[in-house]
Amino acid sequence: MKTHSSSSSSSSHFSSKEAIFLILLLLCTHLPSSFSDPDDESCLSNLYSSLSDPSHSLRNWTRSTFASPCNGFTSYLTGATCNNGRIYKLSLPNLSLSGNISPFLSNCTNLQSLDLSSNSISGPIPPDLQSLVNLAVLNLSSNRLSGDIPPQLAYCAYLNVIDLHGNLLTGPIPPQLGLLARLTTFDVSDNRLSGPIPALLSNRSGGLPRFNASSFQGNKDVYGYPLPPLKNRSLSVIAIVGIGLGSGFLSLVLSFTAVCIWLRVTEERMANEEGKISQLMPDY
Ligand SMILES: *[C@@H]1O[C@H](CO)[C@@H](O)[C@H](O)[C@H]1NC(C)=O
Ligand SMILES: *[C@@H]1O[C@H](CO)[C@@H](O)[C@H](O)[C@H]1NC(C)=O
Ligand SMILES: *[C@@H]1O[C@H](CO)[C@@H](O)[C@H](O)[C@H]1NC(C)=O
Ligand SMILES: *[C@@H]1O[C@H](CO)[C@@H](O)[C@H](O)[C@H]1NC(C)=O
Ligand SMILES: *[C@@H]1O[C@H](CO)[C@@H](O)[C@H](O)[C@H]1NC(C)=O
Ligand SMILES: *[C@@H]1O[C@H](CO)[C@@H](O)[C@H](O)[C@H]1NC(C)=O
Repeated sequence: MKTHSSSSSSSSHFSSKEAIFLILLLLCTHLPSSFSDPDDESCLSNLYSSLSDPSHSLRNWTRSTFASPCNGFTSYLTGATCNNGRIYKLSLPNLSLSGNISPFLSNCTNLQSLDLSSNSISGPIPPDLQSLVNLAVLNLSSNRLSGDIPPQLAYCAYLNVIDLHGNLLTGPIPPQLGLLARLTTFDVSDNRLSGPIPALLSNRSGGLPRFNASSFQGNKDVYGYPLPPLKNRSLSVIAIVGIGLGSGFLSLVLSFTAVCIWLRVTEERMANEEGKISQLMPDY
């Protein structure tokens, strides 16, 4: 019974082994260890062209590596991290980079984290970044980015962190960003933004702010809760200046009158004394 079954199944067993081997071989040729992705290639080559790298921090970002930047989970590029053959993290802070952010960066569609902070990157934040639907962390702080904050960032539904502090951004804080349910860090301080703080970014139910005043300060024309009220602030400044000037003037007047009175009194005394002296002195 036993020998019969093993001998009868041996031929079919062998052929299924062969089939598995063939399938594996096919898979291997179709999924080489470092395979290329046309979207990542477009993203990386365009980003590299749009940035300028005077300190040669990106010297191993060579054209030939853009086509296949990943070997599984390993990246061949400084500052890049891969996940399953795709770029999923770009971390290039404090590298003296200048230039612009290419709109084609949006082709790195598996990107989860983008950190270009503390460089000298200028120009706008491309609204095209809305295609980065997996993006969780966006740190573009301490650069020279200008223009508006694109409201389209609200399409990146997984965003946890938006740090844009220390740039030259203008215009309003898009109210749409308040719809990002996972947002735990939001910092647009020290820019040139204007207008009201959107209610969905300031108020949480219960009256406590969702983000602190420190997230919004350093923008001359941004107002609203949780920032201290503008009118009161300017009023109190006027009050302090007023009190200072007023008390200064008052003490000036007081000391002036005191000096006047003292002068009068001494003058009178002198006159009296002179009178006495002249009375005592005989006339020649
Ligand atoms: C580029 O530099 C990174 C580290 O900075 C290194 O991990 C990577 O292997 C380098 N790539 C090449 C092609 O030399
Ligand atoms: C930025 O880089 C410079 C040198 O390139 C270094 O001195 C400085 O400490 C770095 N800053 C941070 C915050 O890493
Ligand atoms: C890359 O991004 C640009 C700009 O968002 C877009 O026009 C283009 O269709 C994307 N895809 C490729 C493969 O270049
Ligand atoms: C963004 O990057 C800067 C340094 O370049 C860092 O100090 C800051 O904490 C980062 N922001 C967040 C929210 O992690
Ligand atoms: C937000 O909360 C503050 C203080 O709790 C309150 O004065 C203000 O009216 C609220 N604003 C909105 C839009 O709910
Ligand atoms: C706001 O500030 C308070 C204390 O200053 C701190 O405990 C809290 O974590 C801050 N919240 C946010 C969202 O930064």
